[in-house]
Amino acid sequence: MLSAVLYQQITRQKVLPVLVLDNNEQARILADCLLEFRLNAIEITLRTPKALNVIEFLATRYPELVVGAGTITSTEQLQDVQQSGAQFALSPGAPESLLQAGQRTEIGFIPGVMTPSEAMLAHSYGYSLLKLFPAEVSGGCTLLKAMGAPLPELNFCPTGGISVKNLAQYLTLDNVPVVGGTWLAPIDQIQQQNWQHIRDNMQQLQAILADFN
Ligand code: 3PG
Repeated sequence: MLSAVLYQQITRQKVLPVLVLDNNEQARILADCLLEFRLNAIEITLRTPKALNVIEFLATRYPELVVGAGTITSTEQLQDVQQSGAQFALSPGAPESLLQAGQRTEIGFIPGVMTPSEAMLAHSYGYSLLKLFPAEVSGGCTLLKAMGAPLPELNFCPTGGISVKNLAQYLTLDNVPVVGGTWLAPIDQIQQQNWQHIRDNMQQLQAILADFN
């Protein structure tokens, strides 16, 4: 589930940066940069050995951030990220074990779907904001428009293949309040410590989002 407050915090900024981080130093530099651009809600993927440490570091040191955990594939991981201080979690999928655990957990949970059946199953458990993953290869904007007609009560956070080139198209859809992705802070640019490149991306994003305010 996702509280109204969390829904507002995640969708307000229209873009949920997905970060794949190896250590707290990367996290510190990026957190300062993201906050400067008023991107408070973030997703830290569980795809590196230090991901839980990074979540704990950011949740403790940056109370103004709304730290989410991504790539949740098991109920144990959902418990782990809650203990590390994540305020919400996202999964690439929607197995019933996670849909049930997401109902019980005290943090927000956004399941991942790719088909109407998966979306309907997630909705039957009470979820109304779903991650569409992988967005571009599953049909992207065309799929979302098609799902909007029979499933108007659902909103989606498309992730997977989103970039500056297509994010505006997604955000014009009625059922897309926010998009996610790594393009804002790409993994290779983080590893090369190319912070200026990431700042440039954020500036470019601000220019695009100006049309949506
Ligand atoms: C995720 O973890 O949500 C996706 O891998 C992000 O996809 P992207 O790298 O295409 O933005």
